[in-house]
Amino acid sequence: MQNNHNRFVTRDRNWHPPAYAPGYKTSVARSPQQALVSMQQPTVSELTGPNFSHLRMGPHDNDLLMNFSQGQGLPQGERIIMFGRVVDQFSKPVPHTLVEMWQANAGGRYRHKNDKYLAPLDPNFGGVGRCLTDDQGFYRFRTIKPGPYPWPNDMNSWRPAHIHVSVTGPSISTRLITQMYFEGDPLIPLCPIVHTLKDPDAVETMIGRLDMAHSKPMDCLAYRFDIVVRGELQTYFENQ
Ligand SMILES: [Fe+2]
Repeated sequence: MQNNHNRFVTRDRNWHPPAYAPGYKTSVARSPQQALVSMQQPTVSELTGPNFSHLRMGPHDNDLLMNFSQGQGLPQGERIIMFGRVVDQFSKPVPHTLVEMWQANAGGRYRHKNDKYLAPLDPNFGGVGRCLTDDQGFYRFRTIKPGPYPWPNDMNSWRPAHIHVSVTGPSISTRLITQMYFEGDPLIPLCPIVHTLKDPDAVETMIGRLDMAHSKPMDCLAYRFDIVVRGELQTYFENQ
């Protein structure tokens, strides 16, 4: 029987988008202009590179309602829990791996010097968080729902509300990056970046689902976003 753990699966262009997608303007300049070069097995330095599984987390590292203001004030916006499970292609949990996330504030603006959007910064919101998955591969953040924002792609392009997510895995060379969208957002089918995914099922892997069972009454709603790090059913990762 074939060992699926070590099997190389060619990227399926009907599932993953092409690197060059003219409707997504930035991809034109940054997609490879020459044929790709195949790499051999990962080198020792890649396999043993920085590993973050033993990072000591601060008490509010996964709590964006608290981690920027340190409890001095609460951010504007809809309070939410974002949680889910990091699993491999066999639904086996990926424990103790670093999950990082970053996002715009409720008005759709990032706390970044290059973000000049009209929406104001929120003095109580930084927009970044991190945590380690537990023994069962679960991660959890408390945050606010980010706002959509316009971006210079075509005449009137808007990003759906989204949260950027990074999963490090066993070493920095295995880091994967994706985005979580929000179930029911009418901007998802209008987004030029989403359009680079041809298969609607691939888009579905990036949508966080409203999960009333994990919401907190009179406090916050919950969205569940499971991340499949490899295999034919893997979540779409933008850096792979
Ligand atoms: Fe973004």
